[in-house]
Amino acid sequence: MITKQQVVQAHLPATLTPRDEAEAFAPSNIALCKYWGKRDAELNLPINASLSVSLAHLGTRTRLVHATDGRDRVWLNGAEQAADSAFSQKLLAFVDLFRAGHALPVHVHTQNNIPTAAGLASSASGFAALTLALNEWLNLELAPAVLSAFARMGSGSACRSLFEGFVQWEDGIRDDGMDSHGVRLEASWPELRIGLVKVATGEKAVDSRAGMKRTIETAHLYQSWPLQAAADLTRLHQAIGEKDFALLGQTAEQNALSMHATMIASWPPLLYWTPDSVAAMQQVWQLREQGLALYFTMDAGPNLKLLFEAGDQAQVEQAFAGLEVVAPFSA
Ligand code: PMV
Repeated sequence: MITKQQVVQAHLPATLTPRDEAEAFAPSNIALCKYWGKRDAELNLPINASLSVSLAHLGTRTRLVHATDGRDRVWLNGAEQAADSAFSQKLLAFVDLFRAGHALPVHVHTQNNIPTAAGLASSASGFAALTLALNEWLNLELAPAVLSAFARMGSGSACRSLFEGFVQWEDGIRDDGMDSHGVRLEASWPELRIGLVKVATGEKAVDSRAGMKRTIETAHLYQSWPLQAAADLTRLHQAIGEKDFALLGQTAEQNALSMHATMIASWPPLLYWTPDSVAAMQQVWQLREQGLALYFTMDAGPNLKLLFEAGDQAQVEQAFAGLEVVAPFSA
């Protein structure tokens, strides 16, 4: 088995020359065709390719400062995190991949501007921003595809947050995973809008790593998932190429529900929905029946992400009070 450490080490210079400090931003992203299932749990290599859209200005800004007090310290949104917290440990374990035993103490300042009320995961933008900041801090000058592959080892979906706009995460075939990274699609869709519906916040009961593992090990239905994802990717490329919004929305919604079907078919069952999630879905279906071009997608949690176009924004905002709306392709 190839380890993360080995993969990163193969791309680092013999001596590291850190700057005093470095800073980077990475956007959050929402998958229209989901990543669900790992073929390699150490490197976060996926069973299927996925496709997302990045959320422009919503994401994580990370600043790394070469520590003069000689010790690693971590802040999240201005609050220092305990050294033994899960957040600090995950983050510093990732930094260690790059320090490789060198005595390079660091202060990590992580700032998320994702509204906490939106119930959006921040690990994707977090690991993407951290990877970009490490590249700056240690003067690595690595190519975006390499940095994307590194970010994937922090959190799978982070590899898509290295890029703006539509991004495909290639599944790849290499054992070291260096061909499994995000690739930006050239297409733009200025009218596309994403609405973040808050159903519930707080830690999820089963995280995505454990959820994927359980699904693969116990749900027979999972066998159909790679086929579904491959067909949906083709449809999404067609939708994006032809700017066919109904095809984009239908494909994304069906893809998300298919992923959730595999979760529900696991044992013990994995149901991320609350009654409020279902009520919001039914509201979307009702509005669609009335002629509104409105679709949704969902990740491993209870919140809905609405998909619609700029011309319908007023109507959608009226139906969903307090909706946070993102224009992924706004200049
Ligand atoms: O990147 P992870 O390990 O948090 O997994 C993300 C899984 C989903 O959000 C459910 C799907 C996706 O492609 O983002």
